[in-house]
Amino acid sequence: MTIVLAVLAGAFVGATALWLALRGALAAGRAAAVRAGELDKELLVAGARLEASEAGFDHRLADAVRSVAGPGAVRTVLDCGGGSGSTAVPLAQAGARVTVLDVSPDALATLRRRAADAGVEDLVRAVPGDVEALVDLGRTMPELAPASFDLGLAHEVLEAIDHPQVALAGIAAAVRPGGLVSVLISNPVASVLTRALAGDVAAALLELRALAADPPAALDVSAVRALCDQLGLVLEQVHGVGVFTELVPGADLDAQPSGSDSAALAELEQLATGRSPFREIASRVHLLARRPS
Ligand SMILES: C[S@@+](CC[C@H](N)C(=O)[O-])C[C@H]1O[C@@H](n2cnc3c(N)ncnc32)[C@H](O)[C@@H]1O
Repeated sequence: MTIVLAVLAGAFVGATALWLALRGALAAGRAAAVRAGELDKELLVAGARLEASEAGFDHRLADAVRSVAGPGAVRTVLDCGGGSGSTAVPLAQAGARVTVLDVSPDALATLRRRAADAGVEDLVRAVPGDVEALVDLGRTMPELAPASFDLGLAHEVLEAIDHPQVALAGIAAAVRPGGLVSVLISNPVASVLTRALAGDVAAALLELRALAADPPAALDVSAVRALCDQLGLVLEQVHGVGVFTELVPGADLDAQPSGSDSAALAELEQLATGRSPFREIASRVHLLARRPS
């Protein structure tokens, strides 16, 4: 999370430079920790894996926020299913005004606490509600008014609800013309692969059958693409998150003599993230689509 915070906080002032500085600091901190015997190698590998997996995603989100308004303007973000604020709070720390719509009172309570701890309670608004009812909510609640947000997020929520098309339509309507919609889904294709690679062929078969059903039982990338088309959203980017970082067994990475394999893994991930067919097997897939002006 520290990484996410820092990268997003740097979004308006030079995310890349900040990211590089942060990576250096992390590396130095880790080296010191290892010398002090505080961390074992397994943790180091896990940390490197997470960094490699999340860094590209964080950069793209930061770029997306930066791209939706002119310099200095306050960005307005609607985070649907934003939960306890793992994305909303960093965005607010970067200066965005974030409204989180979520059905879970517990998650929203945590969000409020987290926002207060981070000193951004004035920039974060917690709204209890169902994203599938967003269109209706927008008619009566000024804080969810149509066309009032620069960026709408649906991160790891569309796959958890019954009518993702209704939810995405609501988010598209909440975003102003020219604004962006950011969708992150867990990838059912990756789940099939992971189960098969782990030797659980029966479970892999069940999941693939469910995916091959008509209609498919799980939301996949092609379904999100189709929804964007139906809603008139112009798909601008599709990236995999965790293409190789989730695939390479930790034990194998752990067995390597130096940290060079973590660097190689990061580069592998970076090269694969936007490239077909690798992005289609990533554990999560990130799509950015624009509402036409
Ligand atoms: C897996 S969490 C994702 C949290 C966050 N977006 C992230 O990427 O870390 C899913 C969140 O969606 C919320 N959620 C589930 N169904 C919802 C619905 N119909 N409307 C709004 N929020 C919903 C849950 O309460 C939970 O906070």
